[in-house]
Amino acid sequence: MDYSIETEPLEKLQCDCMIVGVYQDQQLSASAALLNNNTQGLINKVLDRGDISGKNGETVLLNTIPDSVIERILLVGLGENKALTSKDYIKAVSSAANNLKKPQIKFVVCCLSEINVEGCDLQWKSRQIVEVFSDVTYQYTHTKSDKETESQLEKIGIAAHENEQVAAQAGLEQGRAIAEAINTTKQLADLPANICTPSYLAKQALELGEKFAKLSISILEESDMETLGMGALLSVSRGSRQPAKLIALDYQGGEQHSKPIVLIGKGLTFDAGGISLKPGLGMDEMKYDMCGAAAVLGTMQAAAIMNLSLNIIGLIPSSENMPDGDANRPGDILTSLSGKTIEVLNTDAEGRLLLCDTLTYSERYNPDVVIDLATLTGACLVALGRIPSGLLGNDDELCDDLLAASETANDSVWRLPLWEEYQELLKSNFADMANIGGKDAGTITAACFLSRFAENLRWAHLDIAGTAWRTGQTKGATGRPVALLSQYLINRAASLT
Ligand code: BES
Ligand code: MN
Ligand code: ZN
Repeated sequence: MDYSIETEPLEKLQCDCMIVGVYQDQQLSASAALLNNNTQGLINKVLDRGDISGKNGETVLLNTIPDSVIERILLVGLGENKALTSKDYIKAVSSAANNLKKPQIKFVVCCLSEINVEGCDLQWKSRQIVEVFSDVTYQYTHTKSDKETESQLEKIGIAAHENEQVAAQAGLEQGRAIAEAINTTKQLADLPANICTPSYLAKQALELGEKFAKLSISILEESDMETLGMGALLSVSRGSRQPAKLIALDYQGGEQHSKPIVLIGKGLTFDAGGISLKPGLGMDEMKYDMCGAAAVLGTMQAAAIMNLSLNIIGLIPSSENMPDGDANRPGDILTSLSGKTIEVLNTDAEGRLLLCDTLTYSERYNPDVVIDLATLTGACLVALGRIPSGLLGNDDELCDDLLAASETANDSVWRLPLWEEYQELLKSNFADMANIGGKDAGTITAACFLSRFAENLRWAHLDIAGTAWRTGQTKGATGRPVALLSQYLINRAASLT
């Protein structure tokens, strides 16, 4: 998809469809009023007929426009006639994008860039328009015979005044980088586990590395991890025919000696549960257990496209979790890279076994902060549903920064407590800790487990089990939390200047 800023007078813009807004008190947005004047009051006629009330997200497509080079007008309801909340704004833009999936519509001009939004500038609006159109038109085709997508939109123009060009363009560029990154993430995540293996992820990382001079990739093989002593990680991959990989992406955009931000993504390309086998219903969705990994790849791509002046390390421990003669058994005791021993009481709590060794490994980068993202616990879905990602961590400043970024990016998170009192749930009679904490507070005890390997780090953990993909009719990856992480990185880069 192509994106552009259009500063020409609206009535001269030749396009397949122009998107304009109307409030629920029937007041037209500036562009809508201008088009109304140029079309003998067409828009007012439609309003008078009652075809659109102006409620947020309502749409009407006017598909013949008298005396105009504009082929169609899409009227979008904005809701109350005042500054929109950022959520309502995104809702209106999404609704517009969803109503333009017609093969005849190729070039669209969106005038919703003129709408007032609480606390948001044109750069933000322009960026959201790009992200929303990209999100709505994404379609998985990799393993379909028919590669034709429903929407055939080719170009989105964002309307702006001449003196707003710079801000609009800046938003467009950020939006394009983030949208591309989200596409990468969704595409990888939607692939089935028989295609997207740990080796496949490693190959994708290497290909990404070829595209950017500041990005270099290295892959640790099982033999390397053996030498290092990653006993927890390797205990999981032992049960799979697919060799584990620890993928390291190194983006050097900052000063040579400035401490890196480390992002760690759980990369289970399939999680059958191991000997503690999962039930069959919905098990296909465990191909999504690598969404953390996919989001790290995507975010590294966004950082590279935006050429951020930061040093960022992406670490992706990747494996399958399968039942096998050589798989972990409940009761087995592992020695992690940190030297701490772990009793495996449930082989399905495998993500933390990969993450704990990767957290320890991250210390060698002398990181400023470490953020891990993982589809870690079903309990997170019980606690928070599919709206926010769970946020836990040992550093308030880092958690606050992530909360702030999540609000700007419309990619919400909710912080859960990581209090000392929960730690005792991980007690083991036979090892330094158990890998599960029992029925209660599963998301918190999983984070407590990780915290024991993050004692020397400023660390935050995002549990994305509920937010990384949709289930049911619209099953598919969401690309979260790439928007949040990209925003966090943008903010960090901006705080340096
Ligand atoms: N990948 C799963 C978590 C998961 C489950 C994500 C459902 C999304 C939907 C993870 O490896 C897992 O199996 N966790 C167990 C932990 C339990 C054994 C303590 C879980 O949540 O059931
Ligand atoms: Mn599991
Ligand atoms: Zn898992």
